[in-house]
Amino acid sequence: MTREIPKNERVWAKGKVIHVQALERHTDLRALNFHCDWLLRNPNAKEIVFVIEDGFRIFPNMMAPLASLFCFLESVNVKAKIHINHRTFTDCYAHSPIRCVEREKRADPSNVVWEYRSASELELLIDWVVSNLYRKVPSQKNTLLALEYCLSEIMDNVLRHSKDQAGFFMYSLQRGDQRIAVAIADQGIGIKRSFADTSYRPLSASDAITLAMKKGVTSSADGAGNGLWTTTEIITKNTGQLTITSGGGAIYYNKSLGKVDTYDNAPTIDPEWPGTNLDFQLDFQTAVDFAGLWGELPSPINTRAERLENSEDQLVLGIKDQSFGTSTRESGRDVRVLAANLLRTHPTELLLDFTGVTMISSSYADELVAKLYIDDTLENVRNRLNVTGANATIELVIADAIRSRAKP
Ligand SMILES: Nc1ncnc2c1ncn2[C@@H]1O[C@H](COP(=O)(O)OP(=O)(O)OP(=O)(O)O)[C@@H](O)[C@H]1O
Ligand SMILES: [Mg+2]
Repeated sequence: MTREIPKNERVWAKGKVIHVQALERHTDLRALNFHCDWLLRNPNAKEIVFVIEDGFRIFPNMMAPLASLFCFLESVNVKAKIHINHRTFTDCYAHSPIRCVEREKRADPSNVVWEYRSASELELLIDWVVSNLYRKVPSQKNTLLALEYCLSEIMDNVLRHSKDQAGFFMYSLQRGDQRIAVAIADQGIGIKRSFADTSYRPLSASDAITLAMKKGVTSSADGAGNGLWTTTEIITKNTGQLTITSGGGAIYYNKSLGKVDTYDNAPTIDPEWPGTNLDFQLDFQTAVDFAGLWGELPSPINTRAERLENSEDQLVLGIKDQSFGTSTRESGRDVRVLAANLLRTHPTELLLDFTGVTMISSSYADELVAKLYIDDTLENVRNRLNVTGANATIELVIADAIRSRAKP
């Protein structure tokens, strides 16, 4: 059978060398898969050389699948020799993804590819990523909770359904931290094959993806089949930017263009292990209305907030544990963003607990307490925000900061 070489000036092959001039669109990934597949058809293939050129933008939805591809090559004993002429590419670790246990090495989890291989690794990773975002990104009601929900569902699907050993995950913040772009990739059996032992008979790979996204559709005895459905509901009502590629098929949602495209017969490296890639965007400035989305289904529980609740149902932020220092504006800002995110989502009181803190700077007090106190986007904040456990000096510094800010 003759195979048509995809017309792509950005990814091309010469001998066993694949040149990657840019990897920014799904057509680039398809071309990359095509060339890898072609080279792997030679049973004596021991090595593929990748030349990564400089100057293209690094996106999660390209880098997570690329990491997954490199991992696949290793698993079939084909060495991926990677020549990197691109500094930003080196920085994102697609050629050698980071495991969650190594997270202490990085202050910020964004813009690098993470690899997870177990449920505990997945939970640690999501918890770390979401905790980081709670301090960094001001978010409307429930949007961070919805993100956490989507990540758990999609990343868990890799471990439960793909039959691959590893999942790859990357995110980056965009538009002045207002938006998050996320990608999760595996090199597993693909969604169509996951239905092989069920009574479902999807006709094509894109048909199988559409099926998996429906409410109550599952291939496993213990699944409810709601993970992809709820995820799709959340994302399509938010930015509407969602792409699922699996087993040579793809579904592209684009709310701004008002359309859903399906695609089939994309090249895959191995028909047995075609993999699944899912990428989406969420906008933190758009609130998520769970009741409106799911009707009678209960909203996800925010265990992160529950862990902070005291016996009187107040949320308590212990400054000694939650703040990395109490001197700088930056550390005050982090805790303020966290406190505001909690106040926006929970109708309760919030206590800033200074027990064990000996001193704070005026700028820290201004950045954390005074700015929160005058934030009129937070409903009834002056009655819901309280300070506790502060020594006399800290109380004075806080009172002074509030007085300066709250001046008429
Ligand atoms: N990464 C993946 N690889 C292969 N198949 C997948 C993958 N993700 C989802 N699927 C298929 O899509 C189906 C639907 O997934 P979904 O998350 O909606 O439900 P579930 O995981 O079966 O159950 P629940 O998430 O409600 O516990 C899965 O049962 C599986 O057959
Ligand atoms: Mg699931």
